[in-house]
Amino acid sequence: MKVNVLVIGSGGREHAITTALSTSPRLGELNVAPGNAGTIAHNVDIDVTDFEAIASFCVDRSIDLVVVGPEQPLVSGLADSLSEAGIRCFGPSAAAAQLEGSKSFAREFAARHGIPGPRCESFTSVESALKWLHDFDGRVVVKADGLAGGKGVIIPETRVEAERAIFDLLSARTMGDAGATVVLEERLEGEELSLFGIADGADVISLGTAQDHKRVGDGDTGPNTGGMGAFSPVPGKADIEPELVERFLRAAVSGMAAEGTPYVGVLYAGIMLTDSGPRLIEYNCRFGDPEAQVILPLLDSDVLELVLAAADGNLAKTDVKIVDGVTAATVVVAAAGYPTSPAMAIPIPEIHAPAGVSVIHSSTRVDGDQVVSCGGRVLNVVGTGTDLAAALDNVYSVVDEMRSDQLFARSDIGWRHAPRSVTGSAATAYAQAGVSLDAAAEVGDRIAGAVISTHDERVVAGHGSFGGVFDLASLSGLDDPLLVATTDGVGTKTILAEQIDSWEGIGADIVNHGVNDVLVQGASPLFFLDTVAAASLDATVVARIVGGMAEACRAAGCVLIGGETAEMPDVLSTGAVDVSGTMIGAVDRANLLPRTSIAPGDLLVGLASSGLHTNGYSLARKVLSGMDLHDPLPGDEDVSIGQALLAVHRSYLQPLKQALADDLISGLVHITGGGLVENIPRVLPEGCGAIVETSSWTWPPLFRFLVGLAGLHRVEAHQTLNLGIGMVAIVAPDQLDRAQQAIPEPTKVIGRVVKGRGVALASG
Ligand code: AMP
Ligand code: GLY
Repeated sequence: MKVNVLVIGSGGREHAITTALSTSPRLGELNVAPGNAGTIAHNVDIDVTDFEAIASFCVDRSIDLVVVGPEQPLVSGLADSLSEAGIRCFGPSAAAAQLEGSKSFAREFAARHGIPGPRCESFTSVESALKWLHDFDGRVVVKADGLAGGKGVIIPETRVEAERAIFDLLSARTMGDAGATVVLEERLEGEELSLFGIADGADVISLGTAQDHKRVGDGDTGPNTGGMGAFSPVPGKADIEPELVERFLRAAVSGMAAEGTPYVGVLYAGIMLTDSGPRLIEYNCRFGDPEAQVILPLLDSDVLELVLAAADGNLAKTDVKIVDGVTAATVVVAAAGYPTSPAMAIPIPEIHAPAGVSVIHSSTRVDGDQVVSCGGRVLNVVGTGTDLAAALDNVYSVVDEMRSDQLFARSDIGWRHAPRSVTGSAATAYAQAGVSLDAAAEVGDRIAGAVISTHDERVVAGHGSFGGVFDLASLSGLDDPLLVATTDGVGTKTILAEQIDSWEGIGADIVNHGVNDVLVQGASPLFFLDTVAAASLDATVVARIVGGMAEACRAAGCVLIGGETAEMPDVLSTGAVDVSGTMIGAVDRANLLPRTSIAPGDLLVGLASSGLHTNGYSLARKVLSGMDLHDPLPGDEDVSIGQALLAVHRSYLQPLKQALADDLISGLVHITGGGLVENIPRVLPEGCGAIVETSSWTWPPLFRFLVGLAGLHRVEAHQTLNLGIGMVAIVAPDQLDRAQQAIPEPTKVIGRVVKGRGVALASG
């Protein structure tokens, strides 16, 4: 008997599922709701959030089987609704989908059934979460409990970032109800692997291993995405796979059955291979996207028969064959601006893929007779080969033709197992001169994705053009717009970054420095241009720095519109990198800071710095020479000296947004080189000076340590370092309460404006 099928979903995963089902001789009518341009012949227009509409469609069209692609409908109970209506569904019940729908449920379930995971705990109050964090002796990951579209996992680099993430989720509710419970867990280190199984409530069969690449940029930089590329199987893991299937898949399926919530559908375990053994990162209740695109082509079994067997509880009698000696790989082609604000309606040209390669549609739709993009991940190029390198060669031969100023792809998918070399010319005159054009080409390839990922509709021309072109129509909301421009460098902080191999923060440092400099004039950042210069280019280092810049640009809502990477062997010394950049922002003339109203009696409100920011590094290096930067920081054993020194220069854009919008601030001072003493006078009117009460805050441990080592006098310290205050807001006394309430973090009044000039330090 033929089987009529309805597939729910609209991504690359669903196109891949549809493609796999299509080869079955048992297939009757095939419907996809809502589908994409790749499944256009099968698309049906049903509201997939309306479970009754789905059920009545199934009855009307004699659907024998519903295959659910994404997690949200499963967590919301689509499988339950269908089975109540007597319709066969492949996918877990809402109770079983809790394995993905609630991270705290999954952790507690794993603990009950001896499935190894990180040390962890769930919290609903900030206070108890902070207490656990304080007592925890290692690095942590902060997770929103509920579904958050891949954005619910925060991997903080420092304790302060972890605290902020807890506060954001539980108190500011930045992820809504998904973050009403927060899970804190030990940060696992190792290689990540995804293991897929198909379960029928009692039995489970492995569908193999895959590895995804979650970060948007090459070198695993930039923000998390839904996944930028994957391959299957993961080389060298065949011998541990049976054990992983037992410990992570069978244990879960048996456990769910024992608890009365049998699990039917795809079970996908994210596993970290740590030095002390494999550990569960998370369960997902469906195929991965883009992992389905590489798992399904390797199945040498009728996928429809397999899914029917699972839905009917017949897996014990079923065999799955996986093609031996073949690797499948996929690379995601994404829209400029993904993952923050992808460009839309990009026309997709017809693609002629050679044998062994296929193009799976993801966020695409048909508009007239043109296929256009309608989301971030647009297409997946899928290829096979005798090994990973061969599969990737096939995939990239097509991907390389598809890149444009609107479409980008990572160029290093598979890097852990099959690093791709960039082909280029042999010894050239440049090479003889010590400049490597290959390296320059490789750098270009590696940073393109990160750069383009910041772009949105304001960028008329960006990557690859001689000058970045920015559309001033985006300023149409300002009555009398002024542009504000600032340029700076991170200075010798890069030497420390090199010593402890920590580069991402350097990119964020220079962007945030620019953000803060335009902010003190009241302006919002628009676009940024950078320069990275080195004696000899290391493509990975440049990619990490630019990845950090791109991430910070996205966070600030500005675009990275141009830049320069310069290899200068005789100008710079070996190993050194110089990073600098220019930020342009805009402000309405009426909102320009500082205000002329600043007057004696106004208060100085201090906002905490995250560390040295971008100043004082020559001094720090001098006094620390010979010390081990990996040693714990005296006074704060949670961080090493190196981590504390490299803490990212924070941006004050978000914290000050509301107070600026409410016109509660008359002036801002970014505390850079010269400390409070030299920076505050820069915004005060003629005839005004300031008194800073030095006892109104305590110096953070890093500053106590450095000032002590350097033997600086208190006055010298205030003239050199920010000493824990990175930004000062000047506020009229009658606005103080409102201003402090509008700033969503603790602030301190550290002094006041007085008649006179300069800054006097008062204590006690
Ligand atoms: P998820 O959204 O749950 O897939 O998590 C996103 C990514 O965060 C995972 O792919 C991991 O790379 C990372 N991650 C999640 N939990 C941990 C953990 N406990 N330790 C280290 N990395 C983690
Ligand atoms: N690619 C990862 C996921 O689907 O969750």
